[in-house]
Amino acid sequence: MKLSVIGCGYLGAVHAACMAKMGHEVVGIDLDTAKIEALAKGQAPFFEPGLPELLTEAMATGRLRFASDIAAAKGSQVHFVCVGTPQRKGENAADLTYVNGAFESLVPHLSDGDLVVGKSTVPVGTAKRMADLIDAGTADASLAWNPEFLREGFAVKDTLHPDRLVYGVASGEESDPATAILDGVYATPLSEGTPRLVADFATAELVKVAANSFLATKISFINAMAELCEATGADVTKLADAIGHDVRIGRRFLNAGLGFGGGCLPKDIRAFMARAGELGADEALTFLREVDNINIRRRRRMVELTQEICGGTLAGARVAVLGAAFKPDSDDVRDSPALDVAAIIGQRGATVVVTDPEAIHTAQRLRPELTYVETADEAAKGADVVLLLTEWKQFRELDPTTFGDTMTGKRILDGRNVLDPAAWRAAGWTYRALGRP
Ligand code: UGA
Repeated sequence: MKLSVIGCGYLGAVHAACMAKMGHEVVGIDLDTAKIEALAKGQAPFFEPGLPELLTEAMATGRLRFASDIAAAKGSQVHFVCVGTPQRKGENAADLTYVNGAFESLVPHLSDGDLVVGKSTVPVGTAKRMADLIDAGTADASLAWNPEFLREGFAVKDTLHPDRLVYGVASGEESDPATAILDGVYATPLSEGTPRLVADFATAELVKVAANSFLATKISFINAMAELCEATGADVTKLADAIGHDVRIGRRFLNAGLGFGGGCLPKDIRAFMARAGELGADEALTFLREVDNINIRRRRRMVELTQEICGGTLAGARVAVLGAAFKPDSDDVRDSPALDVAAIIGQRGATVVVTDPEAIHTAQRLRPELTYVETADEAAKGADVVLLLTEWKQFRELDPTTFGDTMTGKRILDGRNVLDPAAWRAAGWTYRALGRP
């Protein structure tokens, strides 16, 4: 099938490449010419495992191309809108500028029978508004809303082999013509047995924010337990293992530590609260405010712990920070707990030396005031304390017997509960963590 993908960020670039891999003829479109130039050369504009190889493979087939003019969408039968919906400055609500802009610029290029498919995470009610916009155009085109559940770091795998497909269609019925078109697009994953659910627009929009809210709640739940563990001398990692054995609870997404960040979970729960308020249903989501608060408190606790271990003041201290990305296998620093903690510690008078396997360039842009080095060993040189804030494999596998020899004292704070406390203590380290004795 001929597809266009509008917006080539983390979501769109991966979606475009994966659709080409599935055999479709795809044009990826983005206003950012630098991004398009990179993609056209087969280069991924951000770090995502497997994406460079996939781009090279897809470009070689001749089925994937990129353009910066929206007119390039003409001739495609299905148009995926994958633009960002960031948090509005100074507000909880989502900024829909890019979604509105994408639809407004796309509509004049639509032809009869085209299907526009929204993938962006939007406040419930947006799809209906976009459907009206399409109806007001001259072409007889229609809309579907098809939320995306990919995780950064696993984006290629999650797109090629999704755990479910959700179609929001105008009638809400499986018999809707949009269903058959989307079944054609996703023929490959459907043939692998991927579950597919058809719903109305509002349900499809809500599925996405409900899923992210649940994940955020799960993380904040275990981090609230970590606060209790800190107050009682209990161990949150053992608590998580024990409750996680109950299949109704499950062990995944119960890793206590510095909490969630990134371009999705934090802004999605805030936008969801804002939208519920507009709908007069704010009470239903007031718990999400607490989910957000618990999450932010973990960052503050990490700063306090660092101050404590540095003898009560951060002024003049030298702090090594391992990790800047919001999670491993990503160079994304949007609302990164690691970078946030590093910046606050710097503001309190410490010299902060940050390292990250992939995110130094993105971190430098956001927090130019911090010092960046290439390796954990360089960061630890002369440091009073090491903070492990993003659990990259390289950091999880550090050897406590050889690492940190050039520090002023062997002190480590494990912000992600990924090190073995016994091994680090046996090697002479003062080991502290969130939610652990
Ligand atoms: C999240 C969702 O997991 C995806 O399903 C969704 O498609 C995506 O948002 C989106 O809306 O686009 P992502 O932001 O890539 O994906 O990252 P996650 O793997 O969900 O991690 C989010 C944050 O939670 C990270 O900062 C991570 O360190 C933290 N986390 C995760 C914990 O603190 N504890 C855990 O147990 C798990």
